[in-house]
Amino acid sequence: MAAQLRAAHRRARALAALALAAAGGLLAAATVGSGPAGAAGPVLRDLAEAKGSYFGTALTQSDLNNSTVTALAGTQFDVVTPGNEMKWDTTESSAGNFNFGPGDRIVSFAKAHSMRVRGHTLVWHSQLPSWVSNLPAAQVKAAMENHITTEATHYKGQLYSWDVVNEPFNEDGTLRTDVFSNAMGSGYIADALRTARAADPSAKLYLNDYNIEGLGAKSDGMYQLVSSLKSQGVPIDGVGFESHFIVGQVPSSMKANIQRFTALGVNVAITELDDRMPVPASAANLAQQATDYANVVNSCLAVSGCVGVSQWGVGDPDSWIPGAFSGYGAATMYDDTYQPKAAYNAVVTALGGNSSSSPSPSPSPSGSSSPSPSPSSSPSPSSSPTSGGAACRVSTQVNAWNTGLTENVTVTNTGATAVNGWQLTFTLPAGQTVNNAWNATVSPASGTVGATNLAYNASVPAGGSTGFGFQATHTGNAAPATGFALNGVACTTG
Ligand code: G3I
Repeated sequence: MAAQLRAAHRRARALAALALAAAGGLLAAATVGSGPAGAAGPVLRDLAEAKGSYFGTALTQSDLNNSTVTALAGTQFDVVTPGNEMKWDTTESSAGNFNFGPGDRIVSFAKAHSMRVRGHTLVWHSQLPSWVSNLPAAQVKAAMENHITTEATHYKGQLYSWDVVNEPFNEDGTLRTDVFSNAMGSGYIADALRTARAADPSAKLYLNDYNIEGLGAKSDGMYQLVSSLKSQGVPIDGVGFESHFIVGQVPSSMKANIQRFTALGVNVAITELDDRMPVPASAANLAQQATDYANVVNSCLAVSGCVGVSQWGVGDPDSWIPGAFSGYGAATMYDDTYQPKAAYNAVVTALGGNSSSSPSPSPSPSGSSSPSPSPSSSPSPSSSPTSGGAACRVSTQVNAWNTGLTENVTVTNTGATAVNGWQLTFTLPAGQTVNNAWNATVSPASGTVGATNLAYNASVPAGGSTGFGFQATHTGNAAPATGFALNGVACTTG
């Protein structure tokens, strides 16, 4: 039954992605067959669902205008958290005037892609309009309750969960001082939870915070609060561990900490995972990031009350990190060109999938479009083909699972002149059939195949690179394609 439901969801997602692309003219990639747009590797959501879990992402309104982001989000993830669109400064920027348009757009996207929505967030000291922070203490309770009731009623029955109160603690585990605690003391949290439950009885109600992932003073503060709320019968269903990590610093006590919360009778969700590092990223840090992501996913999977993991943003271009931490970035599973990183492969493996890759040409921490060739694979000028159209080098990366694979191909123009308009021909191993492609038109679907440029990537300067990819089914042989030739001239590989 679960398998049938998943298959039905996959079909609905594929149809929804294609309908969305057709309606909006958004699909940058030409497709062969009817596979889901934008798939790039084993599907995280399917792997997570097979484990009774989920894999989510954050999306903002502006993300919805980016077809690469929407294709990846709608394919790989099954839970959405609006990045900003349900916060108080958007939904009630002046007293009593509510605007749910931005949040509604995120919910519509989620519905079209069979994704659940984590509502974020009803009560938070940040992104709070000044009319609220300037209220006389005697008016804060009514304003808070009205805000919660109106917003939670608007989304009643449509959300999986609400982060009812966000980031209520100081680092030492004491309650943060803000307009709500000043006016109502610590009781504002119970009041907010009760008000949210009354407005939307079906949404799971969460408290969400950062730096509570491991055992320590701040997580002790959250633990004591949740324990107290439970003993008073206050409705609380879960605790969100934001999980904004620095590479190599995932707390070793994370699993134990998840366990102690679930023992209180609440769920835990990893709500905003990212793992930042100095940029440009080093190969060592990207490898450590993969270990970190795997540790987080494994910690959650190991505890039955940990319901799932959400990353904060789809790829590195969507991440809040560079804007907030100067010199840091590369914090997500997808690089600056939305190619899956080692962290993605590590998550696939942690979720029980099969991720196998041929060596990529170089780490591309900042999405460099000109990967540096390894000395052994770089053709010398004298050995480069110089006639018939192009001299080229190709590298491939395959991610495979039982019956499917994605292959990303990077083509470097190693000739002395620009290529204007290209077709890369290659041979697919027997049994592989392409059903979806991005950044090129791929045809026919099997055998000797041609990948032809789209309008925007027709030109490849001397020394420059371009990339495309495809998804294919296979019958047991998931090896990379071979025999690459660019505009009729054979390419080196490596
Ligand atoms: O909307 C204004 C725009 O009008 C203005 O031109 C622009 C100029 O800077 O700012 C825009 O507002 C920005 C807003 O995002 C919407 O894009 C704010 O400056 C910016 O500070 C705000 O950042 C958000 C941040 O929360 C605020 O704390 C991030 O996008 C959002 O990803 C981030 O999310 C939080 C979670 O809600 C809670 N946990 C931490 C997480 C990361 O900070």
